[in-house]
Amino acid sequence: MAMLRHEEVKSCSGRSKSPRKVGKRVGGAAYVHISALGELADEERAQIEAARERIGEHWNVAKITTKGVSLLAYEDFETAAFPRLRHAWRLKTDGVDHDDYTQRDNPPILHRKELLLGANDPRVELFADLTRQIVERGLLADPHRIGTARAWEKRLEQAGVVVIGHRLADRAAPIARHRTAIARNRLSAPMQQLVLHGFIADKVSVFDYGCGQGDDIRVLRESGIEASGWDPYFAPAAPRAEAEVVNLGFVLNVIEAPGERIEVLRRAFSLARRVLAVSTMVTGQRPADGLRSHGDGHLTSRGTFQKYFAQSELRELIAEALGRDPVAVAPGVMFAFRQAEDEQEFLERRQSRERQWPSGVGLGPSLRIAQDNVQRSRFTPLVDDVAATWLELGRPPLRDEISPLTSAALRDAGLSLERATRLAADRVGHDRLIASAISRREDLTLFLAMCKFRRRSDASLSERLRRDVRHFFSSLAKAEEAGTVTLPPDLPSF
Ligand SMILES: C[S@@+](CC[C@H](N)C(=O)[O-])C[C@H]1O[C@@H](n2cnc3c(N)ncnc32)[C@H](O)[C@@H]1O
Repeated sequence: MAMLRHEEVKSCSGRSKSPRKVGKRVGGAAYVHISALGELADEERAQIEAARERIGEHWNVAKITTKGVSLLAYEDFETAAFPRLRHAWRLKTDGVDHDDYTQRDNPPILHRKELLLGANDPRVELFADLTRQIVERGLLADPHRIGTARAWEKRLEQAGVVVIGHRLADRAAPIARHRTAIARNRLSAPMQQLVLHGFIADKVSVFDYGCGQGDDIRVLRESGIEASGWDPYFAPAAPRAEAEVVNLGFVLNVIEAPGERIEVLRRAFSLARRVLAVSTMVTGQRPADGLRSHGDGHLTSRGTFQKYFAQSELRELIAEALGRDPVAVAPGVMFAFRQAEDEQEFLERRQSRERQWPSGVGLGPSLRIAQDNVQRSRFTPLVDDVAATWLELGRPPLRDEISPLTSAALRDAGLSLERATRLAADRVGHDRLIASAISRREDLTLFLAMCKFRRRSDASLSERLRRDVRHFFSSLAKAEEAGTVTLPPDLPSF
């Protein structure tokens, strides 16, 4: 299909009109996406509406010529880079002509999709970027030769490129971005942060942009949260829908083209009504040794690209793409807010939380290092066992939480659990105990928030969980409150 830019066109009645703001002109015809009909002149829109009444709703592009209107159904306009024509209906005075292209192996295809859209359509950027890439590679030369599927595929093949989503890659070594997507059996770190900070909650819609295998969506849905997502490889046909909360989780770091990272960020943010969570791998997370340099990142042995961002680099990228500073919530995890008030409220909440939990508070006298070295070596294996259980629980274990063998050995050695616990604290050190408690408390907060979504009550919590709740929060109500309001940087007393 030949491509020209927007130009002055004649209306169907042959009268000259002012330049059309929307639509792609090919020969004597103008093509307009169904979403942009509102930008047409009244007369043209009326013709399309008249055709629509006779033809129905199964089309997505209107073709306007001086002879009249045809309605065309292309395969998924949203996700197919160069959609194939599937049906065409042409209105005649005595009826409707229908051409079915679904059984043809060489149907017409559509290039430059952005020209069919309204100027403010958020898809324009993504589509125009693909056009820019194919123009840069000279693939749109002789446009009349590439209007059908086979000719176009041949041209791509001859140029040694493949199309992945809305991106061109070299056929020789296309970067297999999708291979970076791992299966998850629990929420990813940025989703956890969104739950912990109360952004994901009952009746809040969540959209996962670049959702990979979709496990975050599954876990959220299992908890009764309205969640959906899109991924160029795993869910290319899913609609990219607006939501209160949008997650762009570990996507930017697998994209090798810096310009595309900015576009993806903008696209994801355009869907976020309240907050966008952006996360990437961060410097030092995994050694880059032995990986081959590629652009500003590395190629892995699996044919994927990875860029490890410094925290400041991620912040700058988000600020450049979105024109607003993000708020860092964890290493490699940042939130960008739609409304300044929301951001303000979030920051105030965080500050008041810090006031509530000044560092060092809450260690409690029982955690003071026990200086009791008596018979330490004899007790070491038992104390180590108690310490390991403590680190796992994030709190000192109760008697029935240590192994029966250790319990019996403690009794034989005449060592009380209380003393063994003090010795364990001594051996492990405050820092590790505090880290384990913070981590367990966060896990618990997250778990309880998810339970709340599922409307589970205290009665359905296991004995261990009930003990955890008592230890960390004193009651379930307080725990749930903590799930949406406060995350202490330090511990309550042991
Ligand atoms: C490391 S995975 C992360 C998947 C998921 N967000 C998670 O945290 O489990 C990166 C994902 O980004 C997707 N991706 C690659 N390029 C993309 C783009 N331009 N826009 C959106 N997603 C993209 C890949 O298909 C892949 O599923």
